[in-house]
Amino acid sequence: MDKLIIQGQSKLFGDVLISGAKNAALPILIGSLLTSDKLTLTNVPKLFDINTTVKLLQFLGVGISKDEDSIELIAKSINHIDAPYDLVKTMRASVLVLGPLLSRFGKARVSLPGGCAIGSRPVDIHIRGLEAMGAKITIDQGYINASSEHLPDAKLLGAKIYMDQVTVTGTENLMMAATLARGETVLENAAKEPEVIDLGNCLIKMGAKISGLGTDKVIIQGVENLSGTNHRIMFDRIEAGTYLVAAAMTGGEICCQGVDADQMGAVIQKLQETGVKIRIDKDKITIKSDGRLKAVNLKTLPYPGFPTDMQAQFVAMNAMADGVSEVTETIFENRFMHVQELVRMGAIIDIKQNTAIIRGGEELCGANVMATDLRASASLVLAGLAAKGETIIERIYHLDRGYESLEEKFNQIGAKIKRIN
Ligand code: UD1
Repeated sequence: MDKLIIQGQSKLFGDVLISGAKNAALPILIGSLLTSDKLTLTNVPKLFDINTTVKLLQFLGVGISKDEDSIELIAKSINHIDAPYDLVKTMRASVLVLGPLLSRFGKARVSLPGGCAIGSRPVDIHIRGLEAMGAKITIDQGYINASSEHLPDAKLLGAKIYMDQVTVTGTENLMMAATLARGETVLENAAKEPEVIDLGNCLIKMGAKISGLGTDKVIIQGVENLSGTNHRIMFDRIEAGTYLVAAAMTGGEICCQGVDADQMGAVIQKLQETGVKIRIDKDKITIKSDGRLKAVNLKTLPYPGFPTDMQAQFVAMNAMADGVSEVTETIFENRFMHVQELVRMGAIIDIKQNTAIIRGGEELCGANVMATDLRASASLVLAGLAAKGETIIERIYHLDRGYESLEEKFNQIGAKIKRIN
């Protein structure tokens, strides 16, 4: 298995081109199941999770061709309506095939995603929403079996659905299902994440009738068919945030290109509170840091709140910044797996329920550490970049799920990261 070896304390200078967003690309690729026409996507990041999604869609029967810059998908003839455990277990977002398969083909069978490192992550809200649209759903031998074949023309029925927790993939699954349902669906307490809006905008280009994107009430009028379109995937705000925190921690000046600062408000504000200088231009964010930072308190919340996917990176930063800080995780129940590894690098952190209390100001030192999940791995890379000496990170396949060309991009701006097998 691959490992990363990082020689710490190089200052970072230069430009980083931010890739397309994993969390927008996954649902939009899966949205190809809603039409028999061609969907052409650009700015799709080259990531492990994208390969898994492509494999899953090919298994279902979607014709897929790729070149350097784009992916074309045609879901003309579908051979399977099931997402098997082997594919779902490696990527929880596979559950997104449930809504599109059910609404276009009248049935779907999708393995339950099961537990994962950051908590139990149920899909009850996805299931209850589809039931409200008339689907019959049973859980059998670890699979969700869903059918709308008992309904006229096997079509789901529009419904008013209140989601009792804000769920990103839940909103996406139900929004996709509702595009081909009979009548109007209202999703209340919907997720407002930019990636949900990106999916919604792509569906609108495909002929869907959707209003209220970016608010907590999304209204979808079902249509008979959707057609093909071209769509460029939005930038990855979590990747951009990770590079900005890296520059804050190591000192230097970097410019993230291809971004929209309006979609990163909470992260930019928290970075400014640390004392770094940030300049915002049309599609660029420049950060300048002397490496001396003030620790910041924060609490993760659904968008526009501070993203849970940036929590681990800020914990690593607070560990070396001046002051005592509190970081509270409200989205996932077990998302502090990075803490014990950061402690091995010299961080002083206590966990009390869902809050990490971090006594900053410590110089981090290189160590052998283990990646546990995607964003935890990113926090270890950041700690390694800021630490004195050498850090070796094992199990970096987690990083390859979500960061395109991580070591190449970091090395281009002055980091010293080597991948070994
Ligand atoms: C998505 C993102 C992930 C991010 C997360 C929160 C993708 C592919 N992944 O994950 O990177 O960390 O949003 O911003 O976009 N919940 C339920 N029942 C459900 C669904 C969710 O109780 O049916 C709970 C979850 O356990 C969690 C909370 O709702 O506590 C939010 O989870 P959710 O927004 O669904 O996360 P994902 O969509 O899986």
